[in-house]
Amino acid sequence: MFRRAPDRIRDQFTFTFDGMPITASTGDSVAAALLAAGIRACRTTPVSGAPRGPYCMMGVCFECLVRIDGVGNRQGCLIPVREGMKVETQKGSHVLTVEQGS
Ligand code: FES
Repeated sequence: MFRRAPDRIRDQFTFTFDGMPITASTGDSVAAALLAAGIRACRTTPVSGAPRGPYCMMGVCFECLVRIDGVGNRQGCLIPVREGMKVETQKGSHVLTVEQGS
C-alpha cells in the first residue's frame, strides 16, 4: 500500500526494528521508514493486545508508539530515524513494560 516515491530515495542507511535490519532514507520519520518497509503494526494495545500502526502521521493519534533505544512511548511519526537506531514494538503500555523489567 505504501511505497516510497523514487525521488525520495536518498542517502540510505540502516536501523533495526525488533532486531530486523530496515533501510531508511535521510529525512524519514521512524513511522514513515517502517511503512515504506511494509511494516504496518508497531505497537499492541494494553487491553486486548491487538496490533496497531501509524495512522495520522502528524502526532495526534498516538497509534505509532514504539520503543526507541530502550525508551517507550515514543511517537514514531514525529521522530527522525537515525542510522543504528534500535526500534522495537511497544507491547501494551510502557508502564507495564517497565514493571515487567524489560
Ligand atoms: S501516527 Fe498518529 S501520532 Fe503518530
